[in-house]
Amino acid sequence: MPREISPLDRFLIDAQNALSTVFGRPDAARGNPAGDTAEVVLEDEERRHAAGLMRINHVGEVCAQALYVGQAAVARDPVTRQALLAAAAEETDHLAWCADRLSELDARPSLLNPVWYAGSYAIGVLAGLRGDGWNLGFVVETERQVEAHLHEHLERLPAADLRSRAILETMKADEARHADHAQAQGARVLPQPVPTMMAAASNLMKAIAYRI
Ligand SMILES: [Fe+2]
Ligand SMILES: [Fe+2]
Repeated sequence: MPREISPLDRFLIDAQNALSTVFGRPDAARGNPAGDTAEVVLEDEERRHAAGLMRINHVGEVCAQALYVGQAAVARDPVTRQALLAAAAEETDHLAWCADRLSELDARPSLLNPVWYAGSYAIGVLAGLRGDGWNLGFVVETERQVEAHLHEHLERLPAADLRSRAILETMKADEARHADHAQAQGARVLPQPVPTMMAAASNLMKAIAYRI
């Protein structure tokens, strides 16, 4: 019979996720969508721009891990908790693919990843404490905003950067599915000003992560 997970076990699992997300090199369960798409040599300025955008996407995935793990930590219904942890596991693929692409572009992840993780975990816990309907509503809002943001990045990436594009296309389809899934599980619509505040927080993150 499976052993009940104690609060201490859960804390240790969460701490391990935080450390491996921020300092480790998580493995993707699925193959990188860039696959054998040809690498095109980009002009220096284009490469820096692509790296800035992919650093933002990498931070976004660090935040997604932290949000979902934070939300799962306080989820009341075990089914909701499981769904959140499953979503976090799929986001690990995105995290790994963005990290791979950053290396290919000769760039590093954000130096502020510990800060992004801690802030997002706190937001996840706060959202989760409002109850499971809010928890799921938060997932829907996050995923819809990320989907729109990825659409925008696909327009801003250098046209020749086909490898980054392949990754973002797959991520965009995954995020749409995550939102639909949470919606179907009984998400409630978040009232204003919550969605606006979430968008403002992510705009701040994007402005900083493009450079640092
Ligand atoms: Fe993602
Ligand atoms: Fe997602």
